[in-house]
Amino acid sequence: MRDALEELLRRAEEELRHVSTAEGLAELRTRYLGRKGLLTTLLRNIGQVPPGERPLFGKRGNEIKEILTGRIEAALASLSAAAEEARLRSERIDVTLPGRPLPFGRLHPITQVCDEICAIFSRLGFTVVEGPEVETDYYNFEALNIPKDHPARDMQDTFYIEDNICLRTHTSPVQIRTMERMKPPVRILSPGRVYRPDSDVSHTPMFHQIEGLMVDKGVTFGDLKGILTYFLRRVFGEGIDLRFRPSFFPFTEPSAEVDIRCVMCGGGGCRVCGQSGWLEVLGSGMVDPAVFANVGYDPEEVTGFAFGLGIERIAMLKYGISDIRQFFENDRRFLDQF
Ligand code: FA5
Ligand code: MG
Repeated sequence: MRDALEELLRRAEEELRHVSTAEGLAELRTRYLGRKGLLTTLLRNIGQVPPGERPLFGKRGNEIKEILTGRIEAALASLSAAAEEARLRSERIDVTLPGRPLPFGRLHPITQVCDEICAIFSRLGFTVVEGPEVETDYYNFEALNIPKDHPARDMQDTFYIEDNICLRTHTSPVQIRTMERMKPPVRILSPGRVYRPDSDVSHTPMFHQIEGLMVDKGVTFGDLKGILTYFLRRVFGEGIDLRFRPSFFPFTEPSAEVDIRCVMCGGGGCRVCGQSGWLEVLGSGMVDPAVFANVGYDPEEVTGFAFGLGIERIAMLKYGISDIRQFFENDRRFLDQF
């Protein structure tokens, strides 16, 4: 019987050498040491051992049980250490690799140009005010001396929301809203979105304007010309080629539009400037007495000038962009350049 014990130990150790998985070890443990295992069964049959040998048989049996338990546990431990090591190796990171830079956000070019323009005018004493984008017919047209059914309405195609409510077609209604709540002198600037059903290389259905309004005693067309020329030179440099062209707006008299020599073709004529060599950047004029009457200002006492400029047009000329629609496509390759 003692030999059977030693033989069992030898076999178990031999098997252990060939088991390389946790499942295999668990199986081996059950097979030898489980309740119906080989060693357990052998020890349970101690009754067949001659009485004199029983103590030694029992002692050796327990030793073998301990030896096997220890071996199996050690094998399990080294398996899990190896697994841990393999995991660490596979998850290893190379801390010497250069990092992946996160892209930085930045202001949209239209916002940048808008901020720049506002900064120039605030140094001249203009304050920034805002107005609603959904506007009544009264503020967008009538108070600006554009009666219903008047042909001047055709100058600005309009998105209507209801009969008397539209998306503002220009920032000029902010002139009215400002004069209604302020007494002269007035010097305001009002940037914002405006809407017209237009679309081509220099027109989009949504675009940005900045309205300017200056009203005081003795403001002249000379002031208008001087301030707008100063402003355009700040933005484009002293050498800028610009022209004041007589024009018409129902809310200003006299009126002028300002064009800048097309930077795309240098004045020769191209798709962007509609072959004219010039790109219109703003409309302007002396506030019409009829507008003053609508807000309760006395045209005998004060005069003023107003202008409305297209921010996208300024940005196109400043950066040499030939298609206005690029501003609104949200292509990062385009936007990252500013
Ligand atoms: C007006 O909107 C007048 N309210 C400007 C004004 C204000 C005149 C105060 C007198 C006194 P106009 O429709 O020309 O005018 O537009 C002004 C500027 O907006 C244009 O010079 C042009 O730069 C820009 N603009 C007009 N339509 C579009 C469009 N669809 N897309 C981009 N820019 C445009
Ligand atoms: Mg115009």
